[in-house]
Amino acid sequence: MAIQWFPGHMHLTRKAIGERIKDIDVVIELLDARLPGSSANPLLAELTAHKPTLKVLNKQDLADSAHTSAWLAWYNARPATRAIALDASDAAPARRLIDACRQLAPNRRGLSKPMRVLICGIPNVGKSTLINTLSAKRQAKTGDEAGITKQEQRIVLDDDFYLWDTPGMLWPRIIVPESGYRLAASGAVGRNAYDEEEVALELLAYLKHHYAALLDARYRLGLDAQAIGAMHDDELLELIARKRGAVMSGGRLNLQKAAEIVLTDLRSAALGRVTLESVEDFQAWLAAGQLQ
Ligand code: G4P
Repeated sequence: MAIQWFPGHMHLTRKAIGERIKDIDVVIELLDARLPGSSANPLLAELTAHKPTLKVLNKQDLADSAHTSAWLAWYNARPATRAIALDASDAAPARRLIDACRQLAPNRRGLSKPMRVLICGIPNVGKSTLINTLSAKRQAKTGDEAGITKQEQRIVLDDDFYLWDTPGMLWPRIIVPESGYRLAASGAVGRNAYDEEEVALELLAYLKHHYAALLDARYRLGLDAQAIGAMHDDELLELIARKRGAVMSGGRLNLQKAAEIVLTDLRSAALGRVTLESVEDFQAWLAAGQLQ
């Protein structure tokens, strides 16, 4: 689906990362565990000049754990890469992230060689939450040092461990068509850049084949997986509208309202734990040359 969203500050973010990267030891790329492939920024590999990378699959509490394990194994098999899964608001596991960075750059230790980490991720992936959890109210230091732009802030996590935060960055165009709806469904894309009904229909097209039991339980459809899988996407949205009382005066179904319900239920995990893409999907995109 078409999403046009590259606001001016994204260019500034890109520039800020490009300038900061030469002094960085480890890059933390925060990904959404429900859509690790689509939430990975293809520009980042180019910008971060192949620095050791920690992939953090955040919002693991919302994702399907079997898929999360598969994604972790896949990333951890890559050179100079470690991957961990987190719920960013959970303090103890978040501290594991510091240990993982230290493993990626073992020579950086002590006040003369502090660990310098850059954290990147798309909007809404949980960067602020994670930083607040990690810093546990330690004062964030901002802007008082040469080269730190208003776009960045430096957070001191330990005496010899600095974290640079960058604003969330999406990319100029969505290369893989399916990624557009997944990003929109997850809440990463500004509300004005997509049509909620269109996104909900794409989402249902996926859910009916992969998570039919969750749809049945949430909306009391009273249908088995085969019957749900055989429904047209429009038909399914209409049934959800009826089951949820999304009806306008005159009895017409309010499909916009039904779409909002489906998207809200996905984002809050009221629907259950859902992952929107598998490692195999991602490998197929790579094989088709849709990603670098
Ligand atoms: P950002 O800085 O990358 O833009 O993201 P931010 O931390 O603001 O997080 C965006 C939303 O995602 C917030 O919800 C936040 O609570 C939620 N979030 C972050 N990490 C996790 C996680 O690991 N698990 C879950 N379930 N949610 C997470 P919000 O609805 O926008 O705000 P609020 O509910 O915190 O008020």
